[in-house]
Amino acid sequence: MAARILEGKVYAQKLKEDAGKKAAELREKYGMAPGLAVIIVGENPASQVYVRNKHKSCEELGISSEVISMPEESTKEELLARIDDLNGDTKIHGILVQLPLPKQIAAYEAEILNRIAPEKDVDGFHPVNVGRLVTGEAGLVPCTPAGCIRMLDMAGIPLDGKRAVVIGRSNIVGKPMFHLLLARHATVTVCHSHTANLAEITREADILVAAIGKPNFVTADMVKPGAAVIDVGINRIAPKKLMGDVDFEQVKEVAGAITPVPGGVGLLTVAMLMQNVVKAMEMQMQA
Ligand code: GUN
Repeated sequence: MAARILEGKVYAQKLKEDAGKKAAELREKYGMAPGLAVIIVGENPASQVYVRNKHKSCEELGISSEVISMPEESTKEELLARIDDLNGDTKIHGILVQLPLPKQIAAYEAEILNRIAPEKDVDGFHPVNVGRLVTGEAGLVPCTPAGCIRMLDMAGIPLDGKRAVVIGRSNIVGKPMFHLLLARHATVTVCHSHTANLAEITREADILVAAIGKPNFVTADMVKPGAAVIDVGINRIAPKKLMGDVDFEQVKEVAGAITPVPGGVGLLTVAMLMQNVVKAMEMQMQA
């Protein structure tokens, strides 16, 4: 039987509505809208699209949004100075530095991201927020993995006691996904490029998350019948053609539920960012 298709649009819409309602409550209570600042350095076309989408979502939901475009040749010191200004700005509750950074400052990515005040780190990349995720304290969680968990919940797919397999161990998706699934009482295995007998492991998964960045990597023989397959891959194979990490046409015949690319979890990332901005303001106001 063909899998249920988990449409990102449907779930993203619910998450955004929820963020919009909370933003209105915060405006009412504090006389100020939640505020997001996005810094973009240089003119990477894909980054420009992502930043525009974030700005548009903020406008729709009554979240104030400032896009700071810095020239390609900006120095690390200039970028750090902008971050310091935003850390001290009480109207800004969330700060995001769009990645990738231009090559002359890419080597300083960790230092740059770590300069963002942890309470304003709406990407959830700061080591303080990573630590909170690991220990289970309240903090800001990376948007894409958090969005995947919210989508599984809304789709009524249980996690407690299930076998979950994550392919990929990046700081942005694989590692936080592991901790989020573990916190929900799944038994979680992380596979990566050095994993032996990968298909044997993925075939045990009730929930399979693919975040490796290789088009069509997950094939039908790697999937347990009835599994929920979450495709986090965004592989640009031509200027206008995106492809996921999962061979959608094959795998949808085996899986119980599957996310498409495009139109899957990518849309949840922006929706969760909106939720994180609202959550950041709530936490700052209660501090
Ligand atoms: N570039 C692509 N994805 C992301 C993301 O989640 N956060 C940031 N800051 N940059 C990105």
